[in-house]
Amino acid sequence: MSQMLLEAHNLSVRYPQGEVALYDVNFAVRAPTFMAIIGPNGSGKSTLLKTAIGLLRPTTGTIKTLGYDAARESAAIRRLVRYVPQRDRIELSVPIKVKDIALMGRLLKKRPPRIASRKDKRLAREALERVNMAEFWDHPFNELSGGQRQRVLVARALASDGPLLILDEPLAGTDTESQRLIVEALREYHTENDVSIIMVTHDLNPIHTMVHDVLLLKKTVIGLGEPCEVMDHELLTRVYGPSAKVVEYGGHRYCMTQDSGVDRHD
Ligand SMILES: Nc1ncnc2c1ncn2[C@@H]1O[C@H](COP(=O)(O)OP(=O)(O)OP(=O)(O)O)[C@@H](O)[C@H]1O
Ligand SMILES: [Mg+2]
Repeated sequence: MSQMLLEAHNLSVRYPQGEVALYDVNFAVRAPTFMAIIGPNGSGKSTLLKTAIGLLRPTTGTIKTLGYDAARESAAIRRLVRYVPQRDRIELSVPIKVKDIALMGRLLKKRPPRIASRKDKRLAREALERVNMAEFWDHPFNELSGGQRQRVLVARALASDGPLLILDEPLAGTDTESQRLIVEALREYHTENDVSIIMVTHDLNPIHTMVHDVLLLKKTVIGLGEPCEVMDHELLTRVYGPSAKVVEYGGHRYCMTQDSGVDRHD
């Protein structure tokens, strides 16, 4: 039986200073899926994720994640979700090693004393292998490049447990090779495990062949559907302005926005 991944009803979120980040948000997406959330800067993507896991409260309306109300049942959601925030505040003055980061995702779900078991270490190492970072096991995290750090943070999420993986712009600040490794690791992981993935991205191009649902946001839902349905000229110009174009060439659909460079969809 298929379950609801996300279900929003009349959701709005206003920050205390008065900024309305989301209004009239209504949509539902079934699990399991690989879902992308796209939209320009400030369109409420991160706000939506934070509200969905109970880090922010709705001003009006509701959002349910895997059937749990995010405002009232966030503890249950937290147990099911692995969340990679947009900018992780890992204290870089602490000489923490790559293995500690990769293990953290598993250890934080344990009761104290949080001691890594053989299984924890195996899963952490396997996750690092997926993003080609296993050789950095004993390396200080703060001596890695930005792209390498992103790969370790993705590995931390992959090593942990739970039916939903949420990643807020995991490809930001990464080069093509890191992007390829991260995207490939997520695709494999999604195919091999009964896990849903929600990923915020500015560029649909690296993931359009693997995502099933795309949510196009601009403070409210502008479009929701398969990649080819969302790659629609009218929808994209509403979000990205008149410069957005969808081009059909050689049997492929390309979408060009100032945000994304070139997005192709088969
Ligand atoms: N902590 C905060 N306090 C007040 N306003 C905020 C806060 N965080 C975000 N906002 C505002 O809410 C709106 C949506 O922000 P959000 O971070 O959700 O956008 P986003 O789509 O994730 O953008 P980006 O692509 O830059 O990550 C923006 O106008 C932003 O200025
Ligand atoms: Mg954001």
